[in-house]
Amino acid sequence: MHPHLFPTITLLLMIVTITLIHCPTSLRADDEKYLTCEAPFNCGNLVNLSYPFWASNRPNYCGHPSFQLDCSSNVPQINITTMNYRVLEINYSSWTLTVARTDYLDTICPAAFVNTTIDNNLFSYVTSSDTNLTLYYNCRLPLVDLPNLVPFQFNCSINNTNFINYYTQSSQTFSANSVLIEACNYWVNVPVLQSLVPTVITYDAVIAAIDSGFMLEWDASNSQCDTCLNAGGLCGSDPTTSTFACHCTNGTFASGCSTESTRSSSKMNARMREIIIGIAVAVLGIVAVYIIICYLRREQLSKEFIFRKTTRKNDENIKEFILNYGSLAPKQYSYSEIKKMTNSFINKLGQGGYGGVYKGKLPDGKLVAVKVLSESKGNGEDFINEVASISRTSHVNIVTLLGFCYEKNKQALIYEFMPNGSLDKFIYHQESSAKNCRLEWKTLYQIAVDIARGLEYLHRGCSTRILHFDIKPQNILLDEDFTPKISDFGLAKLCQRKDSIVSMFGMRGTAGYIAPEVFSRNFGRVSHKSDVYSYGMLVLEMVGGRKNFDVGMSNSSETYFPDRIYKDLELGMDGRTSGVITEEGEEISRKMILVSLWCIQTNPIDRPSMNKVVEMLEGTLHSLQIPPKPFLCSPKVSHVDSSTTS
Ligand SMILES: *[C@@H]1O[C@H](CO)[C@@H](O)[C@H](O)[C@H]1NC(C)=O
Ligand SMILES: *[C@@H]1O[C@H](CO)[C@@H](O)[C@H](O)[C@H]1NC(C)=O
Ligand SMILES: *[C@@H]1O[C@H](CO)[C@@H](O)[C@H](O)[C@H]1NC(C)=O
Ligand SMILES: *[C@@H]1O[C@H](CO)[C@@H](O)[C@H](O)[C@H]1NC(C)=O
Ligand SMILES: *[C@@H]1O[C@H](CO)[C@@H](O)[C@H](O)[C@H]1NC(C)=O
Ligand SMILES: *[C@@H]1O[C@H](CO)[C@@H](O)[C@H](O)[C@H]1NC(C)=O
Ligand SMILES: *[C@@H]1O[C@H](CO)[C@@H](O)[C@H](O)[C@H]1NC(C)=O
Ligand SMILES: *[C@@H]1O[C@H](CO)[C@@H](O)[C@H](O)[C@H]1NC(C)=O
Repeated sequence: MHPHLFPTITLLLMIVTITLIHCPTSLRADDEKYLTCEAPFNCGNLVNLSYPFWASNRPNYCGHPSFQLDCSSNVPQINITTMNYRVLEINYSSWTLTVARTDYLDTICPAAFVNTTIDNNLFSYVTSSDTNLTLYYNCRLPLVDLPNLVPFQFNCSINNTNFINYYTQSSQTFSANSVLIEACNYWVNVPVLQSLVPTVITYDAVIAAIDSGFMLEWDASNSQCDTCLNAGGLCGSDPTTSTFACHCTNGTFASGCSTESTRSSSKMNARMREIIIGIAVAVLGIVAVYIIICYLRREQLSKEFIFRKTTRKNDENIKEFILNYGSLAPKQYSYSEIKKMTNSFINKLGQGGYGGVYKGKLPDGKLVAVKVLSESKGNGEDFINEVASISRTSHVNIVTLLGFCYEKNKQALIYEFMPNGSLDKFIYHQESSAKNCRLEWKTLYQIAVDIARGLEYLHRGCSTRILHFDIKPQNILLDEDFTPKISDFGLAKLCQRKDSIVSMFGMRGTAGYIAPEVFSRNFGRVSHKSDVYSYGMLVLEMVGGRKNFDVGMSNSSETYFPDRIYKDLELGMDGRTSGVITEEGEEISRKMILVSLWCIQTNPIDRPSMNKVVEMLEGTLHSLQIPPKPFLCSPKVSHVDSSTTS
């Protein structure tokens, strides 16, 4: 990430956080109230209820404090001035509710004699529908003076005492009222629906009428609720103050949906509290964002740290190199210089897993090979390997590093240019277009000796050995005089001389040249002898002029080449049947075959060291013993088995 992006992103995140965190404190919470109250609710057998009613299943802020319903039974109940009423019906178009006294349910003889009272601030009788029944209790027996009242007489057994009682409809029995008031201990007003009270009321009619209840109108047309509804809000209440509240989509207000009309001190306090909470949450949010940013930044830093660490390691190696070689140290170039010297990478010499190699020209006119390491190669391990290894070397048979480029994602190594390219071109002659590319035996022999010297030099190091791990024809470059130079130290490993055993995770090398112990530790420990094996395979290929393993070859006609050549040796045929040994090169080729077969012994201990190899190559043929037949690690195992038994 670009460093300048950080302040910008931080600022943006802060703004977003403040907006997101501050707004919801007023919006989300109240919006929630709006949404909650917007949905109607059911209570008992009454459905589609809303303000002013509320219940245990409905938040109190959605209703009026005095309109709490008890939904525990089928018929909801409401308390009006401590009296319990059953709510039979709620009509929102007329703002009325039909209620019946709970204490008169299924009886006309309640436990206590209580007048019907309503809260006149909230309710009013619907005079067009309601009428009063008056019930007289505990009357003196019998009222002989008013025999016409006998039909309106009823009995109640209260406290095991039978009482005579009367009922009248206020208007109808006006004349009797004064007598009854006189004669009875209690009288109670019970409103009923006029429509249910016939002119001559009967006992059954009274019971039915009382159970059917009466109608109350609630004070719905209050100005506050109207203002609120007109503003698009929903009427409700503030439970803390038990006052009216208007729930709007953008907040809850005392009336309407704006703060203009809500400048009461309690509202202001609530608003202030909201703002303070908002600010506090915003501050916390910013802190949280900073923590996240710091965390992300630390991740970023740790990545940079790894990079810097490798860079530092590399820098140390370069410093060491400069210290050791003074003016001979490779020059550091910028990537643009690299681009310039390769003419924008126009002339590609080769391609490897590491990246590409391009032909270039130094400002002084010297031709160079520029090896560009591909960006995907992680933290530049190959580059470090190569610089660390090669910066320690100075040998005629090891390629010379002239310069390098080390920028964040661009790494390149500048080598002396090898006009004759790599050895593979000259040994796999059947693949080459020009048949005359085949080198003379003498040249091949000299190349083999020189490579051995180069490797011996790498393995010899005073304190540190360099193990190459990728000896193969492609990595042997030839200068104009066909002097071989070992190149490509991307897989190289440095190891202390005293413990020449290398601990290694995973496999490195190229199939066909890897020593068996490198891909399976069952064969022994990985050491400089692993390079000896690869060298042996390389020399065998030089002798055979072909790949030891050729994936393209058919199994039936061809055998594993080292296997075949060994059989020739056993038969004393000097390899002639294999068609690789000519008269002129007989001694040389025989020597090379014997040495390489010693080199590819399965057990690393059986292989000679590189200085012994040089000795063997330079010595006489007679001094060389025929090596034991190596247990060859051919990929065609079954095939090898059948050929050995035959
Ligand atoms: C509930 O009331 C709304 C309007 O207040 C009406 O549209 C809807 O039909 C009613 N639902 C029932 C089941 O009465
Ligand atoms: C109504 O009042 C009665 C007694 O006063 C009480 O027992 C009852 O629980 C109250 N009901 C509600 C819903 O408040
Ligand atoms: C509600 O009251 C209106 C007006 O008084 C009336 O027309 C309507 O029928 C009533 N609704 C119910 C369900 O009783
Ligand atoms: C009911 O109210 C009347 C006056 O309206 C009163 O005389 C009577 O005693 C009351 N009854 C009871 C049981 O309180
Ligand atoms: C019933 O009587 C009460 C007094 O006890 C009175 O306040 C009320 O208005 C009467 N209701 C009707 C419908 O006349
Ligand atoms: C009330 O009780 C008396 C005597 O106990 C009885 O004569 C009368 O018929 C009863 N009235 C009614 C309506 O049941
Ligand atoms: C019934 O008796 C109880 C006490 O035993 C008393 O409090 C109550 O008032 C009595 N009821 C009537 C209607 O007299
Ligand atoms: C809330 O929204 C209403 C419109 O729905 C608007 O009239 C009112 O001013 C808004 N209130 C605030 C505090 O933004």
